[in-house]
Amino acid sequence: MVKFGGALITKKDEQSVAHLQIIRKLCSIIKEITEEGIQVIIVHGAGSFGHLKAKRWRLNEGYLPDFELIDDTCSSQREAVDDVRKDMLTLNAIVLSELKQAGLNALSHPPHEWASNLGPQFDGDLVRFKSDDVRTVNVTFGDVVDVDGESKFGILSGDDLVARLSIELPDVESLVFAMGGVDGLLKVPPHLATDDDLIEYWSPDVSYEGLHQTDIDVTGGIGLKIQRGHLVAKNGISVHLINGEYPERILNLVRNQPWKGTTILG
Ligand code: IPE
Repeated sequence: MVKFGGALITKKDEQSVAHLQIIRKLCSIIKEITEEGIQVIIVHGAGSFGHLKAKRWRLNEGYLPDFELIDDTCSSQREAVDDVRKDMLTLNAIVLSELKQAGLNALSHPPHEWASNLGPQFDGDLVRFKSDDVRTVNVTFGDVVDVDGESKFGILSGDDLVARLSIELPDVESLVFAMGGVDGLLKVPPHLATDDDLIEYWSPDVSYEGLHQTDIDVTGGIGLKIQRGHLVAKNGISVHLINGEYPERILNLVRNQPWKGTTILG
């Protein structure tokens, strides 16, 4: 199970700009992993295809009947929901096309079509992700989904999707969070970190520093990844944080060769 973080595959502060070269490199490594006989499921984040508009329209707070905003692209939260869903499909189409160009049989599962409600116990049948063909890569992503009750909608993070998929699908061996700009979990804020500040093994008694851009981010940043990663690790699945700008590190992990990053202990 691999999560491509939104900050890795997009320019996080510029609306809907993808890092095509990084996506391409990641997809060719995924192809090499499948050539080792290991099947991969990909969940990708949103980055600037999701967070900016979702934040402006407060979609993470659900339906707000009295909320008004002047925006040059839409005029209600409902329209913003449709726009973010469309933008996420655009990013997803880029990832899918790169996987196909790498020679994989990529299948997309947009959450707003099959999932509802939020958090790691969201509703939705995961059977669609089961496949025996190693060249088939099932893909899903963080999205705006319908929510029961007055909220009507909300943001389902890719971190919640990877948690349920890792725990509930049979035979998942490991979960890798491919992140942008950091080698793993750090003891000090990323801009101050040296090689010595990388946390190789994390358990709840180890303190860490992470940047959570609450001004941009509508989901939980690094804190959510750690919480969900820990939940998965407690289920006996190996969980790792790796710098996705060097995707060969993921391949090294799979091949039991030295790699750089953080392992989350259960
Ligand atoms: C967020 O998903 C989805 C939307 C904002 C629509 P994630 O929580 O998985 O995204 P990243 O990885 O932080 O960008």
